[in-house]
Amino acid sequence: MSRLIIISNRVSAPKGSDSGAQGGLAVALASALREYKGMWFGWSGEQTDEYTGQITFQRSEGVTTATVDLEEQDIDEYYNGYANRTLWPLFHYRVDLAEYEREFAGGYQRVNERFADTVQPLIEEEDAVWIQDYHLFPLGEELRKRGARNRLGFFLHIPWPPRRLLSILPEAQTLVRSLFAYDVIGFHTEEWLQSFCDYAIAELGATEEDGELVLDDRRVKVMACPIGIDADEFARLATSTRGRLAFRQMRDAAVGRDMIVGVDRLDYSKGLEERFLGYERFLVEHPEERKEVTLLQIAPPSRATVGSYQKIRSTLEGLAGRINGGYADIDWVPIRYVNQGYPRDVLAGIYRAAKIGLVTPLRDGMNLVAKEYVAAQNPEDPGVLILSRFAGAASQLTDAVLINPYSAEEMSDAIMLALRMPKEERIERWQKMMAILTAEDIGWWRRTFTDVLMGPPLEMEAEP
Ligand code: G6P
Repeated sequence: MSRLIIISNRVSAPKGSDSGAQGGLAVALASALREYKGMWFGWSGEQTDEYTGQITFQRSEGVTTATVDLEEQDIDEYYNGYANRTLWPLFHYRVDLAEYEREFAGGYQRVNERFADTVQPLIEEEDAVWIQDYHLFPLGEELRKRGARNRLGFFLHIPWPPRRLLSILPEAQTLVRSLFAYDVIGFHTEEWLQSFCDYAIAELGATEEDGELVLDDRRVKVMACPIGIDADEFARLATSTRGRLAFRQMRDAAVGRDMIVGVDRLDYSKGLEERFLGYERFLVEHPEERKEVTLLQIAPPSRATVGSYQKIRSTLEGLAGRINGGYADIDWVPIRYVNQGYPRDVLAGIYRAAKIGLVTPLRDGMNLVAKEYVAAQNPEDPGVLILSRFAGAASQLTDAVLINPYSAEEMSDAIMLALRMPKEERIERWQKMMAILTAEDIGWWRRTFTDVLMGPPLEMEAEP
């Protein structure tokens, strides 16, 4: 049976099944690796004086990871530069924040070439290779240049921007053309998939035939395949020992008030500023509710050396301070704003204790917090998910209260609606969302993709 080689910028080794510390994607990829053997290659997250391509192998719980250190210039130009100052903002429709420097593009290309040089000797003839996310768009092409004839798949975890936005990127055509080195490309939603096809057809002259794009002598299968979570496992975490403890702590701290929760990396794409303003609007429009609710916003800092991230951090500090200063009383603060991360079991308990999950990204490839909030609820008395229409998750979770996060009025109305929503309606909406989360869970996502990339596992093939 062919092996699976997963390549991503960050590599996450299994940390022990009950530590509760590992993200959903990492769990899914690790389980794919257990099924197909193989290994997971990427950056160690560490810096070295000079790139040597020396690989550190580790084996944990049936998964082999292979990591390399990057030199300072690589980290500056490839990770902080092109990936996070050029591609990330542009692909999240933030044309105003995207920076275009030839050094960034050059460093990005160089690291992709270095990864290709380093990983190529590890790939055997029958292996399939699955590359993840925007850090590594050209890696497939670099592997082909080095003679790889393997099945190569790519999955994008962020939005794909509309054609006219992408055209702003000086390297857009080269970048999209390079994607034709893959056999399969996956996106979380039809919308991102259509934007990709639109660009390839209009700007490169590709043609579409039965779910495949054809350009010159290359043919690539394109698919929308939304990533899910292990909903049952997350529900269990919410009632695990640490989950229950966190639940009780939250309920005690809320002293009978309704809690609204938001959990996001501290990133401008998450709509945190708009969320604070929408919540403030709610406090202004409904003074009688002021001491009845409290917003807990957990936002661990991310990509902290990038200027736009420093700016959003200071904006939010100012805003939280202003709102708390303006409305707090001796026995109540409107916003508890916390800049640290928590293990998943603690988060699950926090979600379960919250009457409202407020997930308001301005643009998001998928957003797994929305799904985890739903999975953590008590089936007999579930909370309400308020979700941005612009998150990939909104295409599946149509029974959330969907809002336009740019509108403070809509956010304020949605909070009021959620607080007053009768239990029967909450249960009905929750059941519908949970049915989707269970049907299209994390295992479904990775099987759907790997079945196309590698063909179904032998035991699943039909009898001749
Ligand atoms: C998003 C991206 C991932 C990335 C994660 C954390 O979810 O799609 O590829 O790993 O953010 O960002 P970081 O820069 O810390 O890896």
